[in-house]
Amino acid sequence: MESMTSYIETRDLVKVYQLGDVEVQALRGLSLKIDQGEIISIIGPSGSGKTTLLNILGGLTYATAGKSFVAGNDISGASPAQLGSLRQKTVGHIFQTLNLIPTLTAYENVELPMLAIGAPKDARKERVTELLQTVGLGLRMNHKPDELSGGEKQRVAIAAALANDPPILIADEPTGDLDTETGAKIVEFLLSVNTDMGKTVLIVTHDPQIARQTDRIYRIMDGRIISVQTPSEAEEATVEIRIQMYRDRLDETKQDIDQLQKVYEEKRVTAGTFAERWTNLHLTKEFLERELNRMGL
Ligand SMILES: Nc1ncnc2c1ncn2[C@@H]1O[C@H](COP(=O)(O)OP(=O)(O)OP(=O)(O)O)[C@@H](O)[C@H]1O
Ligand SMILES: [Mg+2]
Repeated sequence: MESMTSYIETRDLVKVYQLGDVEVQALRGLSLKIDQGEIISIIGPSGSGKTTLLNILGGLTYATAGKSFVAGNDISGASPAQLGSLRQKTVGHIFQTLNLIPTLTAYENVELPMLAIGAPKDARKERVTELLQTVGLGLRMNHKPDELSGGEKQRVAIAAALANDPPILIADEPTGDLDTETGAKIVEFLLSVNTDMGKTVLIVTHDPQIARQTDRIYRIMDGRIISVQTPSEAEEATVEIRIQMYRDRLDETKQDIDQLQKVYEEKRVTAGTFAERWTNLHLTKEFLERELNRMGL
C-alpha cells in the first residue's frame, strides 16, 4: 500500500539559520500538501520564509527538522547527489534573483541545464529554440542578460527552468521587479505551463491579484502556514472584513446621531447645523444599512 503522502508535502518543517552567534528561525513548523497538476501561490510578508521553503523543496538546502516530499519522494534524508538530481530533473527553479549567467547569451543560459545532464547537441538545439520561441524570445536568442529587458530576462529564466522538462516548476516572485502589464504576461505564461504542459506550479508572490489566479492560496507568516484558501474563499474573507467595517461604521454613526441630538437639545448647535449634520448622518446610516441588507444581513 502506498502511504498517504501528497505529491508535494511538508510536515512540521523547521529551518534555523546560524549566523555566528545568532539563530534565525526562518521556518517554525510549516506543513502543506499540494497535489500533482495543481498551481498554487504562496503569499506572505517579507522575511516570512517563502524563499527558504522553495529552497528546501528545490533541493538547494536542507531543513533543520521536519519532513519534505517532492514528486512523492521523501527528500528529508536525501544525499547531496540525490538533491542534485532533484534540481536537474524534477524541479525547475526560477530564482528571486534570476541567476542568469551574465556572460552567456539567452540561448546558452537555457542550454546550460541540458549540458549539465549530458543532453545531446541536436536535442539541445531543438529544445532551447522551441522554449525560447514559446516564451516569445525567438529573436533575442543571442542577447546576453544585460541586453534584455526585465520581462525578457524573466522569460529566459523560465525557459532555463523548463529546459530539462521537470514535472514541477517553482517561481520565486516572478513578477517582483516588473510593471503590471509585463507581470501579467509572465503570470499568463506560468498559468499555461500548468494547464498546457501539465506541470505542478508553485508561485511565491506579494501580489494578491496573481494569487487569485491560482487553485489555492497559502498564506505564510513567521515561518508557518496560517491559512489555505481557494480564491473564492479568499474573496469571501475580504467580504467578511468589509461587513465588519460597515457594522463598525454603522455603530459609530448611530452614536453620532444620538450625540448630535443631545447637543441640539442642550442648544449647543444651531438649528441649521443640526439639520445639515442630521441629514448627512442619516444618509450614511441608510447607505450602510442598505449595503448590509444587500449582503443578506
Ligand atoms: N542564508 C541565510 N542566513 C541567515 N538568515 C537567513 C538566510 N536566508 C534567509 N534568512 C532569514 O530567514 C528569514 C526568512 O527569509 P526568506 O528569504 O525565506 O524570506 P522571504 O519570505 O522569501 O522574504 P522576501 O519576501 O523578502 O523575499 C528572514 O528573517 C531572513 O533574514
Ligand atoms: Mg524571498
